Amino acid sequence: MRILVTGGTGYIGSHTVLSLQEAGHEVVVIDNLANSSEESLRRVAELTGKEAAFHPVDLLDEAAVDRIFSRHTVDAVIHFA
Ligand SMILES: NC(=O)c1ccc[n+]([C@@H]2O[C@H](COP(=O)([O-])OP(=O)(O)OC[C@H]3O[C@@H](n4cnc5c(N)ncnc54)[C@H](O)[C@@H]3O)[C@@H](O)[C@H]2O)c1
Repeated sequence: MRILVTGGTGYIGSHTVLSLQEAGHEVVVIDNLANSSEESLRRVAELTGKEAAFHPVDLLDEAAVDRIFSRHTVDAVIHFA
């Protein structure tokens, strides 16, 4: 599945991204980096050998979120932001 993880660079989110990639899922991340850094995704990519599609966007920016949904067809959303 292609799964969108909001807050995906955060504490719980980044561990979830790791587990999803290890289980064979494709992951899209939205995070505005208000309480995290992209470094967590770099470390996950080192462990899994897979890159999440990262969008540094605030979820309150409706137009930006719409653009992400038009770029990726997602099967599920896990909302941690
Ligand atoms: N950490 C825990 O032990 C724990 C336990 C139970 C539930 N939770 C819940 O899980 C969720 C995530 O917790 P966490 O500990 O990973 O927190 P976190 O702060 O590490 O992660 C949240 C992420 O959301 C991002 N974010 C915040 N506002 C945003 C916005 N408007 N747009 C885009 N991104 C935004 C932050 O930058 C951050 O990376 C929270 O809802 C928390 O209440 C956490």
